[in-house]
Amino acid sequence: MIKFDFSNILKANIGKDVGLDENFVDKYNEMVKNGYLKIENGRGGAPYDFLELPYQDISEILDYKRELEKYDYFVVVGIGGSSLGGYALFRALKHLNYNIKSNKKLFFIDNSDPETVLSVLDVIEPEKTIFNVITKSGSTAETMSAFSIIFNFLKEKGLPIEKHIVATTDMEKGDLINIAKQYELKTFYIPRGVGGRYSVFTPVGLLPALFVDIDIKALLEGAKEVDVNFRRSYSPENNPILLSALVNYIYDKEYHKNILAMMCYKDKLHGIGLWYQQLWAESLGKKYDLKDDVVESGSTPIVLRGATDQHSVLQLFMEGPNDKLIVFLDAEKSERDVKFKIDELKQYKALSYFEGKTLGSLIASELEGVKYALTIAEKPNYTIKIEKIDEFNIGSLLFAFELQTVIASTFYGVDPFNQPGVEEGKKATYALMGRDGYDEKRKEMTENIKESYKINFPNDNKESEGER
Ligand code: PA5
Repeated sequence: MIKFDFSNILKANIGKDVGLDENFVDKYNEMVKNGYLKIENGRGGAPYDFLELPYQDISEILDYKRELEKYDYFVVVGIGGSSLGGYALFRALKHLNYNIKSNKKLFFIDNSDPETVLSVLDVIEPEKTIFNVITKSGSTAETMSAFSIIFNFLKEKGLPIEKHIVATTDMEKGDLINIAKQYELKTFYIPRGVGGRYSVFTPVGLLPALFVDIDIKALLEGAKEVDVNFRRSYSPENNPILLSALVNYIYDKEYHKNILAMMCYKDKLHGIGLWYQQLWAESLGKKYDLKDDVVESGSTPIVLRGATDQHSVLQLFMEGPNDKLIVFLDAEKSERDVKFKIDELKQYKALSYFEGKTLGSLIASELEGVKYALTIAEKPNYTIKIEKIDEFNIGSLLFAFELQTVIASTFYGVDPFNQPGVEEGKKATYALMGRDGYDEKRKEMTENIKESYKINFPNDNKESEGER
């Protein structure tokens, strides 16, 4: 079960300037219903294929577990939606120091920073390693460059490519699928209609999860439960996934709270925050709406850690511009807790009040305290809590966020499944790196950037000599 607490967006608690009336939903019922029906009527095909994922047959992935057991290291090579889902699952469902504690290790190469790539290659044992190269397009520069480095690394070690690389990609598109065929790599497919940031329940997220013994069936069960219940009602009053999408939208569009700050009060949920940041930003941040009008839509998601960030950005949240909607993300139960025993230190006031309480109760009080402080400072906020951090609940949460984002896209009137801005950056990179077919782009880039304005410091600008 996922619990949503919207108390701190109500006028009665947060004040009349930024609060919503108790019956604020009435005005939007029609809009929400239309959004809901758009998705419900679109089920069963593109672009809503991700909705089928909770019901898929995962026997091929599960069967691969036997093969995975031969390896001690699993390295995900992918970026954006081809990495963040697996990372979110790993952080949420395994020990926070898993790679130190366990004989098995899971690494993520999700950047083309040479240090990131080499630091992983430095610590693995190549003969015990399987690299999972993940790219839907089969051509992303960061991923394919890392792939080529790994390919040569394995060759140099005299290791057979097909035993150490497994591909996750589109069935037809891109170069990775052709390379996979040429080298007879085991290949898992990302369904054609499922885009990167909606792919956590495909082999993109499930395979790395399986390697570290995450119960992927339970993940899908959790997602399914959310889906089944989501389908029951188009009324935001009964369907808090719809309501949360609506609240995010209203605060952005009507109250100019165009920063959506997610504060995670369990460190295990922080990876989910990062995954959500991509989901929300890439799905809703659009220049054009579906009618091709310029809208420049979307609120800017940022992810924070409670209580740590109470000692950093909270000051700005409390007293800086009132331009944020804050979403607290938490789990009701902690898997583990620590009881304080103060004993001989009880004369110290900084410690005595901990006696008999637990560390979990401290962070829970910090969350309640900060909510109160923000609310009386008229900063709108609401809370999403799962019961506990396990496969079922995490599956539910991720799927709920996917639904929330797609519903929100219907309010904004934008396509949540494309990312023309990201594609533009990819093309510019290809042009700069001299990829075939990008000569025009390279020309365009040199023509468009006409001047430069660069200053080194210290500098040898003689004209400024004598100025003090
Ligand atoms: O959500 C998306 O579509 C993107 O973030 C992609 O996942 C990302 O750009 C990586 O693309 P690809 O999987 O094609 O390498």
